[in-house]
Amino acid sequence: MKPWDGRFKDKTLPLLDKFNASIYFDKELYKEDIEGSIAHCKMLVKQGIISEENGDKIINGLSQILKEIENGEFQFKVELEDIHMNIEARLIELIGEIGGKLHTARSRNDQVATDVKLYLKKKIVEIRGKLLQLLKVLVKKAEENLDVILPGFTHLQIAQPILLSHYFMAYFEMFKRDYKRLNDCLSRMDECPLGSGALAGTTFNIDRFYTSELLGFKKPTDNSLDSVSDRDFIVEFISASAIIMAHLSRISEEIILWNSQMFNFLDLPDSMCTGSSIMPQKKNPDVPELVRGKTGRVYGNLMNILTVLKGLPLAYNKDLQEDKEPLFDTVKTVLDCIGIMTEFIDKIKPNKEIMKYWADKGFSTATDIADYLVNRGIPFRNAHKITGSIVKYCIENSKSLDELSIEEFKNFSEKFDEDIFEFISLKNVINRRNSYGGTSIKQVIFQINEAKKFLTPK
Ligand code: ARG
Repeated sequence: MKPWDGRFKDKTLPLLDKFNASIYFDKELYKEDIEGSIAHCKMLVKQGIISEENGDKIINGLSQILKEIENGEFQFKVELEDIHMNIEARLIELIGEIGGKLHTARSRNDQVATDVKLYLKKKIVEIRGKLLQLLKVLVKKAEENLDVILPGFTHLQIAQPILLSHYFMAYFEMFKRDYKRLNDCLSRMDECPLGSGALAGTTFNIDRFYTSELLGFKKPTDNSLDSVSDRDFIVEFISASAIIMAHLSRISEEIILWNSQMFNFLDLPDSMCTGSSIMPQKKNPDVPELVRGKTGRVYGNLMNILTVLKGLPLAYNKDLQEDKEPLFDTVKTVLDCIGIMTEFIDKIKPNKEIMKYWADKGFSTATDIADYLVNRGIPFRNAHKITGSIVKYCIENSKSLDELSIEEFKNFSEKFDEDIFEFISLKNVINRRNSYGGTSIKQVIFQINEAKKFLTPK
C-alpha cells in the first residue's frame, strides 16, 4: 500500500521501490519532519480546516512516532519511499484515517524543502559553534607565542621574519570570514517554504505566516514555484563549507610539512598521532592528512549539488532527492574536521629555537638592508640593486648577512654605519613592520585584542 497508489493498476516492482527510496538516508530528517507536521497541524486547526479534536489526535500520534524513532522501535519501510511517507503511514496506523487529514493543503514538495531547511539551520548553528572554539584556540596560540619568531615564506622560500602569533592570527582571519559566511547563508535561507503546496500554492485558507513563525523562520518564502525547487541554500552552505575545508587543508599542509624532519618546526601531540606497522621510528600526522584528504569530499559534494541543479526545469523534480547525501556528508565532514583540528592545533608545540634559527637564514633581512639605504637617501630601486649585490657576495663567500663586517658593508655603499647590525636584528626587523596589519608586536597585539572583542558575546 502506498499513499499515492489510487491511480495505479499494478503494484510497483521491488526493484523500483529500492531505487526510488530515500529512506536509507533521509531518516536523518525525522525530527524536522515531525516538527514541520506539528506546526502544519496547528495551523490547520487555527484556520478551522481540521477540528481541534482531530488536531490533538494527530499531534499525539506524531509525538508517539517521535518516541518510537528515538527508542529505535520504528520500522522504516523501503516501500514507503521516504521519511515523510513512513511517518504518515505510521500515523494512520496509530490513529486511523484521521491521520490522513494531516496532509491537507500540503505536498511532499514543500514538506521536504521545509524539513531540509529546518535541519540545516540547526546544523549551521552547530558548525558555527565549533568554528568559534577554533577561533578561540587560535587567539590563545597567538597570545602564547608572542616571543616566537619564524621565517615567513613566499613561494615556500624564506621571505621575511614574522611572529608565530602573526601566523596564527592569519588563520583567525580566514576562519572569521568562514564564520561570517555561514551567518550570511543562515540569514538568506531563513524563509519558510511550507504551504507552497506541490508548486502553485493551495486552495485552502492557510496561514503561512503562522507556520513560519511556529517553526522559527523569519518569514514565509515569496514564490511557491521557486520555494519547492530552490536548493540554493544547500549550494551556499556546501560552498561555505568547501572554503572552510580549504582553510583547514592549508593549515594541515603546513603542520605536516613543518613537522617533517627537514623542517622540524613543530612537535605534534603523541595522543593525536599514529605509528607505522613496519617502521618503528614513525610518528605520523594522520589527523591533518585526513583533513587534507577529506577536503576532496566536500569539493566533490559542491560539484555534485551544482550538477544536480544544472538545467533542472521548474519546479520539483525527483533529481532533487539527490541533494541530501552530499549535504549530510558535508555537515558530518565539516563538523568532524573542525572539531579534531581545534584539539590538534591546541596541542601542537613550536620548536622555538629551530624556528628562530631559520628566521634569518635565506637572507630574510635583505629587504631591511635596502630600506636602511632608502632611509639614507638612496632611491629604493638602487638600494634593491646594492642589496642584491651584497646577497650575491654572501652566497659566493658562504656568509650570512649578519656575519659581514662593517668594512664589507661599506664596500657596497658608503651609507652603511655600525648601526646596520642593530637595524637588521630579527626583533627590530619585525617591530619596524608596524604598518596596520603588519607583524610588529604592537600590530599583532592589536589584532589579538580586536579578535577578543569579536569573540566576546554581545
Ligand atoms: N523523497 C523526496 C525528496 O527527497 C520527497 C519529495 C517527493 N516529492 C515528489 N513529488 N515525489 O525529494
